[in-house]
Amino acid sequence: MSDFSYDTAEINRLILSFLPEEDGMQRTVIRAMNEAVRNGGKRIRPILMYETCRLFADACGEERDSWVRDVAPFMAAIEMIHTFSLIHDDLPCMDNDTLRRGKPTTWYTYGEAMGTLAGDALMLEAMYVAGKCAAASENPQRAAEAVRILGEKSGVRGMLGGQSVDVEETGKPLDEKQIDFIYRLKTAALIEASFMIGAVLGGATAHETEIAEEIGTNVGIAFQIRDDILDEISTEQELGKPIHSDERNQKTTYVRLYGLEKAEQEVKRLTAEAEKLLEEFPGDRSTLISLIRMLTERKN
Ligand code: IPE
Ligand code: IPE
Ligand code: MG
Ligand code: MG
Ligand code: MG
Repeated sequence: MSDFSYDTAEINRLILSFLPEEDGMQRTVIRAMNEAVRNGGKRIRPILMYETCRLFADACGEERDSWVRDVAPFMAAIEMIHTFSLIHDDLPCMDNDTLRRGKPTTWYTYGEAMGTLAGDALMLEAMYVAGKCAAASENPQRAAEAVRILGEKSGVRGMLGGQSVDVEETGKPLDEKQIDFIYRLKTAALIEASFMIGAVLGGATAHETEIAEEIGTNVGIAFQIRDDILDEISTEQELGKPIHSDERNQKTTYVRLYGLEKAEQEVKRLTAEAEKLLEEFPGDRSTLISLIRMLTERKN
């Protein structure tokens, strides 16, 4: 087990600075969305985005203030979209879960209608935050590309598309191709977006951005398989969400299809693949390497 740890204080500060004020007649929905984001979580997508951006910006000799100003709104936006995906994933009509990030789920606290709206609100707030900053950016072309990636990887071509197939195929046996498709879209897509947007805003070339996408695919599929493993072997207290949710919902997961041992091997294989691809990135890749290794043995 590695002794690497990552300080998320600065990442959290940046993300939370973009949350809307809780006032106006619509303040209940704003409180529900802000609470869901503030409740925590590992922040892995914004961290990967930030560290990838740092790598490329450093290689171009860009000042820290300047690249952080560009990437921070996108870090907030991806965490908002991810949190929206979790709020909706927990709804009674989807995985019907009542615990998330160690707290009652949004729908459980606020009711289904407000839970649905809080998820919708986070998705659209993400577009507002990203679009607003892109409009004011000194690098409008890079920012516009980042907005495009965010939309592509969140919607029918990405996370939402994957969730829709996950829901459609619930209770049915899946083959390797179907499971790969679902994992690549529902989970890897937002991780691909994190690496890609970090790369684009840091000044990466088109080729380097393609490599970033491929790294995200590998890390993202490994991340979902690890999530499935934890659903089987962890505890509710450690995970902050219910265990055996997949079994209860009759999900065909990688673990249920191939067993724990093969699942663990696959997580390692995909991570090694991502590490190899990282060699094509400039500068000191050690933090990114430690991060993706940490994900393979994470406990929550
Ligand atoms: C959970 O994501 C949902 C999956 C895509 C597996 P995370 O494990 O990143 O959840 P938080 O953000 O840490 O709560
Ligand atoms: C959902 O996968 C991935 C999302 C896009 C939200 P899961 O349904 O396995 O996620 P958890 O285990 O509830 O976090
Ligand atoms: Mg689900
Ligand atoms: Mg779920
Ligand atoms: Mg899960």
